[in-house]
Amino acid sequence: MNAAQTDNSSITIAVIGGDGTGPEVVAEGLKVLEAVAALDGFSYTLSEFHFGGDHYLKTGEVLPAGAVEELSQFDAIYLGAVGHPDVAPGILEKGLLLQLRFQLDQYINLRPVKLLPGVETPLAGKGPEDIDFVVVRENTEDLYCGVGGFLKKGTPDEVASQTALYSRKGCERCIRWAFEYTQRRNNPKGKMLTLVAKTNVLTYGHDLWWRTFEEISTEYPDVKADYNHVDACCMWMVKNPEYYDVIVTTNMFGDIITDLGGMLQGGMGVAAGGNINPDPGGTSMFEPMGGSAPKYTGQGVINPIAAINAMAMLLEQAGQTNSAARIDAAVARVTGEKMQSQSAGKMGHRTHEVGDLVVAELDN
Ligand code: IPM
Ligand code: MN
Repeated sequence: MNAAQTDNSSITIAVIGGDGTGPEVVAEGLKVLEAVAALDGFSYTLSEFHFGGDHYLKTGEVLPAGAVEELSQFDAIYLGAVGHPDVAPGILEKGLLLQLRFQLDQYINLRPVKLLPGVETPLAGKGPEDIDFVVVRENTEDLYCGVGGFLKKGTPDEVASQTALYSRKGCERCIRWAFEYTQRRNNPKGKMLTLVAKTNVLTYGHDLWWRTFEEISTEYPDVKADYNHVDACCMWMVKNPEYYDVIVTTNMFGDIITDLGGMLQGGMGVAAGGNINPDPGGTSMFEPMGGSAPKYTGQGVINPIAAINAMAMLLEQAGQTNSAARIDAAVARVTGEKMQSQSAGKMGHRTHEVGDLVVAELDN
């Protein structure tokens, strides 16, 4: 352990740039981190890990033995993207992203859906005041557990099963965190937590979620406890997104509705997420929600705003709330006043210039 890591006031960050455009957007997030740390006077250490498709193709392993243990020593992981054209789909996603979420017990996947000024949404007649809610996605259970199997594989009689697992502990800790988060967020329009599930069909697993939600809600009388079926939620997200404050949902539904949410807020160039282990000493991981976008690699055209937003979330989780707010404000000024579009190649600036623009706005 080096001197910096023994210093409690320093945030220790493991950086996994990953594949495709991942390293390019991560570089911009780190540029913003350097600038904001100088302004607000905190220190941090960075350790780079070259995991991803290239490492896998060279070594045959996604995460080397001991990697998770090593990563668990850090306060946070800053991840670019995984996904490589020469690696079969699922290998890197399961072997890296899902592995880290599970092994590091990052049981909250926090995905804000916020339309920033100047950003185009596909929803006609809706603006930043209408699209501002947060999805709290359970991140360790459900269909993601990998429980299932084949019978008579490859024959006409083949049967496949894929089982969703929900534990009382797993849903309770997520729901409780979501209530606490809704309280902290303190929406001036009223604090409301909406459980999104499918209790009319998933009458076992989502019954457990529903009963747990009902029970925990009594501990938070200042938060309105609300419920939507997931299909209706998709409808309301498009028709009346202003209805929502905070949504708590299961892993699979959370995956789906946050892609919808990502589009409402202007696309994968802006959407960021945090895989959070809120327990003391837990290691959380922050990432832009978009993929590795291989076709844009090395061209300087990819949008780094999502990665910069992910850095703000990292700093918020690490207790540097001032710096997080500073980045949020700077990003809003850049999207509102300096960028032509949030789409790759149409920003009106190169990737590194967008990072520079955000840095220039940090002390305004
Ligand atoms: C996400 C992604 C992942 C998920 C994939 C890449 C495994 O879609 O972070 O939402 O399904 O969780
Ligand atoms: Mn997804």
